Amino acid sequence: MPEAVLRLPPTPLKMTARPKVFVTRMIPECGLERIRAECDADVWPERLPPSRQELLLRVKGCDGLLTLLSDTIDAEVLNAAGPQLKVVSNYAVGYNNIDVAEAVRRDVKVGNTPGVLTEATADLAVALLLAAARCVVPSERSIRNGDWLTWEPLGFLGQELTGKTLGIVGLGRIGTTVARRLRGGWGMKILYAGRSRNLAAEQEAQAERVPFDELLAQSDVVSAHCALTDETKHMFDAAAFRKMKATAIFVNTARGPVHVQQDLYDALKRGDIFAAGLDVTDPEPLPADDPLLSLPNCVITPHIASATVTARDAMAEIAADNLLAGLAGKPLRHDVE
Ligand code: DGY
Repeated sequence: MPEAVLRLPPTPLKMTARPKVFVTRMIPECGLERIRAECDADVWPERLPPSRQELLLRVKGCDGLLTLLSDTIDAEVLNAAGPQLKVVSNYAVGYNNIDVAEAVRRDVKVGNTPGVLTEATADLAVALLLAAARCVVPSERSIRNGDWLTWEPLGFLGQELTGKTLGIVGLGRIGTTVARRLRGGWGMKILYAGRSRNLAAEQEAQAERVPFDELLAQSDVVSAHCALTDETKHMFDAAAFRKMKATAIFVNTARGPVHVQQDLYDALKRGDIFAAGLDVTDPEPLPADDPLLSLPNCVITPHIASATVTARDAMAEIAADNLLAGLAGKPLRHDVE
């Protein structure tokens, strides 16, 4: 019998725990696969978002969260997650769904995805503008309803844009890109209102900064591109719509609460303004029986401005980068603080 060899038990491998993260919805795979490779990732698989109760449960013990604009991330959620939480990476450029001050107070970093959805959002703003100006949706609907009976000299008369005035509220990245398209393509004169001056856009698009009321009075098209803040919430109310031209078109691809929806409905119904093109509403989702949907002069899309493959993939890459950087204690690629 061989002599018994005294063997020491193998030294256990020192395992470093993978960070625990909750991803509140399926996002493009290019972002998810990187998160899954480095984290213990719980990815919410449903089409609808997790309920508030589910969210509070799932965030417990997480080191990082990847959230959507439809998830409210406030003190309650941050508390539910716990003190180990390092980062909240929002899959959006807007971050009005996150209580950033609360996050900062807890030393939790907050990331967003600016830049990569600029072109897509500007394209949709122009698409909504053209659709609203030229009655695209009601005229198309009339064919489906069997109402195309003849060529009508007085049917579906819209507004032309060439040489008219565009008023941009919030001349940031997206507002400037819309201005560039409509200045270059339609020769529109550009006015803008907003908190700060944009000298580059003033030069490039010969944009002129004017007070908000003056912009309303002079513009043929008023397009909202501002972030939702206490200052911009409900800035388009009954008084604002009354100051606009009866031929004016209002476009909102920013956030629904920038306008007062009842006031917008009244203005459209009374003909205070010609039409509206909205990618955002208040509330979202908009119920199918909302009165706005009964108006032929209001075209609405379901918050799809960034919905191109290119933009959504790029947003996923940035959101993953932000999440992983925050977990590693490194500076985020795009930090909102
Ligand atoms: C954003 O990113 O804020 C848009 O509203 C959705 O992509």
